[in-house]
Amino acid sequence: MSSLSRRNVLTLGVALGLVGMAGAAPAGAAPTSGTSDSDPWWTWDDEVDRLLADLLDNGQVPVVNTAMRSWVNNNDPLPSGLPADLAAHLQKANRLPSWADRTKLRLAADFNRRKDTYLFLLYGLGSGIMSTVIPREAKSVYWSAGGADMKDRAAKTFTFGYDMSELTAFEPAGQFVVTANKTRLVHAAVRHLLPQSPQWQAVNDEQIPISNGDILVTFHSLGTFVHRKLREWRVPMSAADEEAFLHMWQVAIHLLGVRDEFIPKTWAAAYAQSAQVLTPILAPTREGRELAEDLLGLTAQIDLGVTRGFLNEFVRYVLSNAIGDWLGLRRDYTAAAFIRTGWPAYIAFREGLLPVMPVGFYLFDQFIRALAMLFLNKGTSPTATLITIPTANRP
Ligand code: HEM
Repeated sequence: MSSLSRRNVLTLGVALGLVGMAGAAPAGAAPTSGTSDSDPWWTWDDEVDRLLADLLDNGQVPVVNTAMRSWVNNNDPLPSGLPADLAAHLQKANRLPSWADRTKLRLAADFNRRKDTYLFLLYGLGSGIMSTVIPREAKSVYWSAGGADMKDRAAKTFTFGYDMSELTAFEPAGQFVVTANKTRLVHAAVRHLLPQSPQWQAVNDEQIPISNGDILVTFHSLGTFVHRKLREWRVPMSAADEEAFLHMWQVAIHLLGVRDEFIPKTWAAAYAQSAQVLTPILAPTREGRELAEDLLGLTAQIDLGVTRGFLNEFVRYVLSNAIGDWLGLRRDYTAAAFIRTGWPAYIAFREGLLPVMPVGFYLFDQFIRALAMLFLNKGTSPTATLITIPTANRP
């Protein structure tokens, strides 16, 4: 297992000019206030983190969760019954940043609609499984309360992707701005809770989880990864589509509390950052293997019209054989060969670049439609689509 240490990652970041030298503290060093204003690995979400720590310590989180149930649409008024300082924070944060470009966000929404089947597939089987080989994310998810019920957690994560991909996501009638703000609160709660978990502490290399750097890593496993695959697969996209898709993600990670100065400005910058902060840290962990098995087991329960061997091979095809091996995904060489030739032909036909319907078209079509349904139903758990702030860790 070759996980780069935090120090190496920082060194790489410094080399690339992503982090300030002042932030390049050795692994395990306690973050001191004012360590650096320009280092995503030492930046969390101070104001919101303090708020959530107080709410948790004072037992107010259940009341907040109840109040937030009816708060769903971007143009809903803030619910009554929120503690004053939380309401004051949301009043400020629950809006698009001044630099958001509504025209681009509308184009992104249209792009999401046009490419939805590829996106469901790539986010679900690509990014979803990749998250299990991002060691810090896998360990945080595993040891937080949600890790014990992956069905529920997967459904909540679907909510995020679904709300972001909706046509009206960023419009007043959409829901994404609220969903992102709720998620930001969940992450702040996790930053207070996980350091109290002895199991998490025993396996983790940082004292506070979910830094701005960690969120950027996850963004690259989602947005940057999907963009790269669409290009690799030669799915037609206009330059304006590509820019709009990046813009949507820039706004999304801003809403999650990442400081604007850390957010890549171009796809080229995003690819460079991804190569430095995501690719080298991918590694298997015990927690990640278990999460991957949970996720693929869940998917296998739904009738996607394909065998588990096909599913395993699709994950290998989308991510890599190395990752497939780390996760112990059983080989099915017949399915692998079928995917290797059939999938590019399927895309070409679908995009009007191939005149004759290729062999296997219906199988792929049924497969991605079933995945899309899973996504549109927000997972398989009918009750669990409300994002709520956890009050404890995994026991
Ligand atoms: C919770 C999305 C980054 C760890 C959530 C939730 C969403 C979400 C929608 C709420 C659903 C739920 O409660 O399960 C995202 C997105 C990210 C991101 C879009 C970046 C673009 C991260 C990172 C980590 C992380 C970097 C850790 C290294 C967690 C944990 C929870 C959570 C532990 C709480 C699960 C629980 O309820 O116990 N995230 N996240 N997230 N996230 Fe993230």
